[in-house]
Amino acid sequence: MTRFSLPPPLTLRGVRFDPPLFCAPMAGLTHSAFRRLVADFGGYGALFTEMLSARSILGENVGRSPWLRRRPQEGRVIYQLLALTPDRLEESIDRLAPLAPDGIDLNGACAAPLIRQQRGGADLFEDADRLRAIVRVLRACVTGPLTVKIRLGHRSPEWRTRLSERLRLLADEGVDALTLHPRFSDENLSRTPRYALYAEVAAETGLPIIANGDISGPDAWRAHAAEYTGVAGLMIGRMAAIRPWVFAQWHNPELAVNHGEVWNRLFDYIGEDFTRTGQALARVKIFTSYFARNFTFGHTLFSAVQSAPDLDTARTRANAFLAAQPALARSPSMDGI
Ligand SMILES: Cc1cc2nc3c(=O)[nH]c(=O)nc-3n(C[C@H](O)[C@H](O)[C@H](O)COP(=O)(O)O)c2cc1C
Repeated sequence: MTRFSLPPPLTLRGVRFDPPLFCAPMAGLTHSAFRRLVADFGGYGALFTEMLSARSILGENVGRSPWLRRRPQEGRVIYQLLALTPDRLEESIDRLAPLAPDGIDLNGACAAPLIRQQRGGADLFEDADRLRAIVRVLRACVTGPLTVKIRLGHRSPEWRTRLSERLRLLADEGVDALTLHPRFSDENLSRTPRYALYAEVAAETGLPIIANGDISGPDAWRAHAAEYTGVAGLMIGRMAAIRPWVFAQWHNPELAVNHGEVWNRLFDYIGEDFTRTGQALARVKIFTSYFARNFTFGHTLFSAVQSAPDLDTARTRANAFLAAQPALARSPSMDGI
């Protein structure tokens, strides 16, 4: 890779991710409707679902569920699992089979209190025996790519040794690639990622590393280009929620976007996939809290939609804002979200 070019396409177990740009798993955001919108723009190698409770999958209708269903135009989709024990994992993977996942990802990173209370995500990363048991079962039943998304674990004087141990464990158990989000589990997204670790970890493990954290577009990536040496891919989270076209624009900086049309399109997509209006309204609100960052006075859009009691009101209020040709923020901020 030259200083300013993306890494080459990433192939895992014969599945090619081209370009090696990934849309991050984001609970409340990367449901089927949002993935459909990002897919309309294209430019990525794969989209991750939001984390899916391995146990809940067993009760879902895979063809209808707005978390599970996928459309052909989405291209490659990697399903992320929140697994707490190895029990019944094989059944969960079987259940996903009709969707033909292009990969299965294990969440070893989520630091949300609710997930950690259940001992999932970042807490699973701490528990080597349980992590190994879960990965072993997954490896035995996942025939395609198996990836794991990790943070740095809990902050402690031994964190670097533990990280090396986990890298070895995951490689020994046959994982195909890792996403590294280099923050400790108690750090929120305002803390600067430890950029130096991408190259360090990539050099240490033989596994392909997908770098994640604060990548808002090519400029942010280029600003740290040296620190991404050796990484196999890049994953974008919040900026994809703010600008669902971020992957397309990576390749085509001149891409013109009609913001009002995009917001309304996602509103319609959400309405199609989420038949329960409460769930649909919640998704419209979550998306709008990110999308509003596109505008200089986006807090007006954010507050108007956030306080809407129903979908119709949300749409009316959003369109009152969007129709007035609101000024665009030159580079939307991810501060505080
Ligand atoms: C609203 C939201 C939901 C998230 N949900 C998940 C999730 O389901 N699984 C996961 O591994 N990470 C989750 N994350 C973390 C992101 O995948 C990503 O690691 C983080 O946002 C840093 O990347 P970014 O700086 O590009 O946003 C979530 C982040 C946000 C903002």
